[in-house]
Amino acid sequence: MSKTAIITGGNKGIGLAVAKDLISKNYKVIIGCRDTSKGKMAEEYLGNNAHFLELDLSKSASVLQFVKQINTHFSEIDVLYNNAGLIYRDFELTEEGYESMISVNYFGAYRLALMLLENLHRSSGRIVQVTSLSMYLAREFNLDLLHSKTGFSPSSRYNLTNLFRSMFALELENKLKKTSISVATAHPGVTKSRQSRPYEVKKIKKSFYTYFSTNIQTGIAPIIQAIEADNASAERVYAPKIFGFYGQPATMQHNKLVYNEELRNKLWTFTANELNLDL
Ligand SMILES: NC(=O)c1ccc[n+]([C@@H]2O[C@H](COP(=O)([O-])OP(=O)(O)OC[C@H]3O[C@@H](n4cnc5c(N)ncnc54)[C@H](OP(=O)(O)O)[C@@H]3O)[C@@H](O)[C@H]2O)c1
Repeated sequence: MSKTAIITGGNKGIGLAVAKDLISKNYKVIIGCRDTSKGKMAEEYLGNNAHFLELDLSKSASVLQFVKQINTHFSEIDVLYNNAGLIYRDFELTEEGYESMISVNYFGAYRLALMLLENLHRSSGRIVQVTSLSMYLAREFNLDLLHSKTGFSPSSRYNLTNLFRSMFALELENKLKKTSISVATAHPGVTKSRQSRPYEVKKIKKSFYTYFSTNIQTGIAPIIQAIEADNASAERVYAPKIFGFYGQPATMQHNKLVYNEELRNKLWTFTANELNLDL
């Protein structure tokens, strides 16, 4: 029987490439995208087994509406792949007053996962959380300054959101131990995600990253493994084997802060209070 996967931000980049791969393996894929015309274009590009639903992870009402639609039309979700994200953005607050990278990369993923648990439970489903090599650059954090410009830089904030993604996934796994839901994490190394779009790009502008980033198939391989492997766990992260950049997928340790239970608990409690949402 075919499985059903949700991919957030599946209209381009890694999300679109993962959607294409899963559809080739007979999955039904729901892409949750904030822009209707991009979402519809990707849906058409992916074919009959793709379904676009509107989802803006920076807006709690949009996440709620998305979950309602999912529960109405898809009673058993096998995979939630938390992929959508903002990378190296300048300081900006969302309509709800949260710093935008924290809001989309971390709060949005937390909110969606917790709101879909009942559905995922019905199919003994899996939550796969994307993270990044940049988590290894993150240091101890001060939660009081999370939505303030003090000390903000696009790179240090992006690093922090990836540390949070990993910490969240491991804590969620611990909290779901007695359920049938599994949790896994994966990162793609540094990959040419701009290769993957539902439309032709004649020339992709070269940037610093173009010179050492990998082909998108190398980037998505660890994510596909995290989705499909038996006994996957968020204790370790699926990533390209060689320095986390190149080669076949393997599992690796997260940043050591991820294994600090006290910090994880602190982050969880803070998030649950901010979003007024807990297990
Ligand atoms: N590329 C890499 O090498 C790399 C490495 C490590 C980790 N990652 C992670 O992998 C994920 C995908 O990366 P990518 O390179 O494919 O990035 P991308 O091409 O920029 O795609 C990001 C996706 O997230 C969506 N998105 C952004 N804000 C959203 C919101 N508020 N609500 C819903 N969707 C939203 C984007 O939609 P729009 O098109 O509407 O903006 C887009 O579909 C990111 O979370 C990134 O942190 C990437």
